Amino acid sequence: MKRLGILTGGGDAPGLNAVIRAAVKTAISVYDCEVFGIKNGYDGFLESDGIVPLGVEEVRGILPRGGTILGAANRGNPYARKIIRDGVEITIDVSSEIVKGIEKLKLDALLVLGGDGTLRIAHELWQKGAPVIGVPKTIDNDIGGTEVTFGFDTALNIATEAFDRLHTTAESHHRAMVLELMGRDAGFIALQAGISGGADVILIPEIPFKFESVMAKIRERSEKGRKFSILAVSEGAKSLDGGQVFSRSGDEIYVPRLGGIGQVVGEYIEKQGFESRVTVLGHLQRGGTPTSFDRSLATRYGAAAVRLAARGGFDRMVALQGGKITDIPLEEATAIPKRVKLDDDAVITARNVGISFGDE
Ligand code: F6P
Repeated sequence: MKRLGILTGGGDAPGLNAVIRAAVKTAISVYDCEVFGIKNGYDGFLESDGIVPLGVEEVRGILPRGGTILGAANRGNPYARKIIRDGVEITIDVSSEIVKGIEKLKLDALLVLGGDGTLRIAHELWQKGAPVIGVPKTIDNDIGGTEVTFGFDTALNIATEAFDRLHTTAESHHRAMVLELMGRDAGFIALQAGISGGADVILIPEIPFKFESVMAKIRERSEKGRKFSILAVSEGAKSLDGGQVFSRSGDEIYVPRLGGIGQVVGEYIEKQGFESRVTVLGHLQRGGTPTSFDRSLATRYGAAAVRLAARGGFDRMVALQGGKITDIPLEEATAIPKRVKLDDDAVITARNVGISFGDE
């Protein structure tokens, strides 16, 4: 292995720079490799200034930095790229140009740091001949075959701090405070931060809820003199009668954007005579410096991905299983997205300590 490419696709997540840094250092010091950064996801292969050499100098000091020094693009699907032709917007397939770009750059391996969408594209590019290696990134923790993705722990810590801050106002003003959290169709952030943040109600996509059941919990607490409640609401949570709430519909490039369920829940609580306020934590969960756990995991993933590339383990993704770094086929990682299991210890524990999922 002489030439290695790295790109970061989809939304950013804390730890991307730590992966880049570890991969560059390992590739140079262990394998004497030349490393190239591809800017803005797969788009970099299509842009005149989309490729940058990455040496030890370029990655110095980036370990604690959020975001990605390479830029990301969450509408960068080469199989459906929007362009304007003759004044009309059309969608074209540029995947062959990406593969040609990889060949032109003479890359022996391309590390793709991304979530399910970016990794699925990587697998498809492999079928066209691209020597890809996946690294699982997302705050949502919804990628199959790995215990955890980097970025998740940081999001949990930010969400937990938000709960701590909301608690004081909830208690002082006797209010129901709703915190809407990210996670798409997976409830891991709301579940784990809800437990850590002392939530009374946790609503996640995997457990459809009834509004009346949420109210029953708030009333029960009120009758016992606990005049406030904390609700962790995953953006993908769905009520049994109303389904999920979207702030924007999708198209062939964008997936539908979830958002607004927290407001719906808050308004319902107010209508039942309890004062309520809603906070949407949004992109604060993705920004800023990664936690120690994420820095360390990202570093382990970055170095392991380069070792995997050197062994020729293409079309595979590095993963954490039983606390150890391993690798699995990309197809397996993206085939079945990870979701909260109803018999998960965390769900059982939450119920044991009196947290309502709004389903009883
Ligand atoms: O997948 C990560 C994530 O932050 C989701 O939790 C969220 O639904 C989505 O991305 C937001 O995407 P965007 O940055 O495009 O608004």
